[in-house]
Amino acid sequence: MTKTTLPKAKILIQKGKKQYFEDLGREVSIVKESRLYISDFSRDFSTKYGTIKKADLKKTGTVKSSQDKEFRIFDASFIDVYRRIKRAPQIIPLKDIGYILGQTGVGSDSIVVEGGSGSGALALMLARCCKKVYSYEVEPEHLAIAKENAKTLGFRNIVFKNKSMYDSISEKDVDLVCMDLPAPWEALNSASKAMKQGGFIVSYSPTIVQTSDFVNAMREMPDFVHLKTVEVIEREWEVDKRKVRPKSKTTIHSGFITLGRKI
Ligand SMILES: C[S@@+](CC[C@H](N)C(=O)[O-])C[C@H]1O[C@@H](n2cnc3c(N)ncnc32)[C@H](O)[C@@H]1O
Repeated sequence: MTKTTLPKAKILIQKGKKQYFEDLGREVSIVKESRLYISDFSRDFSTKYGTIKKADLKKTGTVKSSQDKEFRIFDASFIDVYRRIKRAPQIIPLKDIGYILGQTGVGSDSIVVEGGSGSGALALMLARCCKKVYSYEVEPEHLAIAKENAKTLGFRNIVFKNKSMYDSISEKDVDLVCMDLPAPWEALNSASKAMKQGGFIVSYSPTIVQTSDFVNAMREMPDFVHLKTVEVIEREWEVDKRKVRPKSKTTIHSGFITLGRKI
């Protein structure tokens, strides 16, 4: 795990409270659960349930608002800051990033090439686990956002490049090439030259047409094998006393992940 320097931030949590009202014959939420992110410590912090004093924002533990409501306060962790990164193009969700990390087994000794950087969501998580990440992006505006996000999270092991992955990849002996590109098959030649034998290639595409074009192109190359193509489905459940059921609003589809290996 790569150590990063996080910005000073706190998480303020208030546990929800329910009360039984006899005349209604049911429980009603009297306090809604809330999770708040604090990054400005120069003034008091306003919440729906009163103000938290500036001096209390520096504490860890329990604090009370001006309305005598209790909150818990603690330092923001990596994932709290990560979830707030700036977004330009659509990012790869954590469920898919987790799958890529697990299936490729990359770690503190791995060299990774990835692109397009987009908002940097994938690059940052790869950099959190790997030795070095080289991130390619053709759009200067996207690159600026990805760089800013990497700076916010204090990463020093990501090298951003304003370059097309389709043209060439200058790194050698790469353990993983990971692509979230509109035409990933166009990067197969440059990826093959950059990768070490046994290295992994991953392509993430929102549509199945891009996915089949990529797999068919990869199969035609003598130095790649197709391992598998998957869709990771995450179904979140609502758990409230005995009301236990899948949440009605969930993301059904994000993208297809194709894994291959250089032989
Ligand atoms: C969907 S976004 C990537 C999002 C990113 N994976 C994330 O999690 O934040 C696709 C990006 O690929 C970039 N792109 C398109 N063609 C490219 C190429 N040939 N080389 C590098 N980047 C490219 C686009 O500008 C865009 O920013």
